[in-house]
Amino acid sequence: MKSDDHTTPGKPVCAHTTPRRDFLKSAAAGAGFLILPSGALLGANAPSNKLNVAMIGTWGRADAHFDAISSENVVALCDVDENHLAHGAEKFPKAKRYVDWRKCLDQKDLDAVVCCTTDHTHAFIANWAMNRGLHVYCEKPLANSVAEARLVRATYLKNKDKLATQVGTQRHSNPNFNRVRELIRDGAVGALREVHAWGNRQLRRPGYLPAKGEPPKTLHYDLWLGPAPFHPYNPDYFSAGPGMNCLQWNMYWDFGSGQVGDMGSHTMDLAWNAIDAGLPTSAEAEGDAFNPEVSPVELKATFEHPANDWRPAIRVTWHQGGAMPRSPKEYIDLDKIGHGVMFKGAKGFLIADFGSRVLLPWGNDADLTYYHRRDKDEVAPDMGHFQKEWTNACKTDLKTSCDFDYGSTLIEQMLLGLVAYQVGEKIEYDGESGKVTNNKAANKLLKRKYRRGWKLKG
Ligand SMILES: NC(=O)c1ccc[n+]([C@@H]2O[C@H](COP(=O)([O-])OP(=O)(O)OC[C@H]3O[C@@H](n4cnc5c(N)ncnc54)[C@H](O)[C@@H]3O)[C@@H](O)[C@H]2O)c1
Repeated sequence: MKSDDHTTPGKPVCAHTTPRRDFLKSAAAGAGFLILPSGALLGANAPSNKLNVAMIGTWGRADAHFDAISSENVVALCDVDENHLAHGAEKFPKAKRYVDWRKCLDQKDLDAVVCCTTDHTHAFIANWAMNRGLHVYCEKPLANSVAEARLVRATYLKNKDKLATQVGTQRHSNPNFNRVRELIRDGAVGALREVHAWGNRQLRRPGYLPAKGEPPKTLHYDLWLGPAPFHPYNPDYFSAGPGMNCLQWNMYWDFGSGQVGDMGSHTMDLAWNAIDAGLPTSAEAEGDAFNPEVSPVELKATFEHPANDWRPAIRVTWHQGGAMPRSPKEYIDLDKIGHGVMFKGAKGFLIADFGSRVLLPWGNDADLTYYHRRDKDEVAPDMGHFQKEWTNACKTDLKTSCDFDYGSTLIEQMLLGLVAYQVGEKIEYDGESGKVTNNKAANKLLKRKYRRGWKLKG
């Protein structure tokens, strides 16, 4: 079943280091409890205990977390915009307030962190938080470079027996994700050959915004820039409504990865959930003419994945901003599906969006007798509320559907596509070492340069 494939079978153990805590750890683990860094006992026998949570980013996307997290103790709030911090404090008035996430993460009583900041800070916050023994829910995209994705995964894998993590791809809990997976695993399209995912969002920008005015006194602009190279203030980076403001900055290379990290995180997840893929062995990409300031709107990136124990080698392609896969039949207009996936197998096609799917058996022998529908009791159960899956996992078995192993691998592939796009030729990739083996210039593009004073490994 799917939930076993991507999650980490962690034992409920303690993240403490002091001798007293070690004692508590072994005593509690024996009794079936989980001890949190704050010292609270959790588990089936202590249902009233709550997580001590820090919310980093307290406006915009953060609003979508307020309800799920309000059953826990929100003890810290952090936002670079003091007005946004005040917005969070209306909901959680008792929490301590910070403008610098590095100081926030030093608060001693924390168990867990919800990160809703800009993309270029996600890997930093996730990594620092895990290094402090904290569970993390991080909004998508989990990273802004291949190297960031790899470091987050390495830190998570070191701590997977202690920490629960979740990437904020909440559409994953739509039952359609598992229905698509089951159809592919059960052979509804025959042996899998190609997978396509696409998104039609187009945000064209000429380049970084010119200097305009001074940041308001309530905005700590230097902290907003954080590790990114300096770019002058312009109010347009901050001009959209709650939950939409990421579209004001995520297409600029230093702040995000455009639609690769934005809708790409969600839509590739619908495919990724069904194919049990690790890292690709190659990437090639084409799209808009390269702009050193803005990531491409139109892009097609193709990755080769080796065979695994249930399917042959496959090609996975991400299309965005106007690039689209060819429809298998003229009566199916893929352009009508804004964000979708298509699986091509030896016996047919499966086309899906986040909530629905159609199966298209193909050819004279595609009579579906080769496909064995699973019994009702083998159908994956509803996974319930996506954010609650994480808070529950923090208190129990640490298992989530989009942990940082699953999520970092997905985004590493997508960001590798942008590297292939930048060098303009097919690159061969060694996922073990994280190196491009046939192009030196590509290797330099796997990481980013950070401003002085900002360390990814904190
Ligand atoms: N899962 C989804 O469906 C979904 C939807 C929208 C946005 N998002 C993701 O959520 C994130 C935030 O998007 P948004 O539209 O809310 O953006 P935003 O620009 O409104 O930023 C959110 C909040 O974070 C604060 N912030 C920015 N940098 C910070 C820092 N270094 N430290 C502390 N606070 C900081 C901002 O002041 C703001 O209050 C993005 O990464 C985006 O991809 C996910």
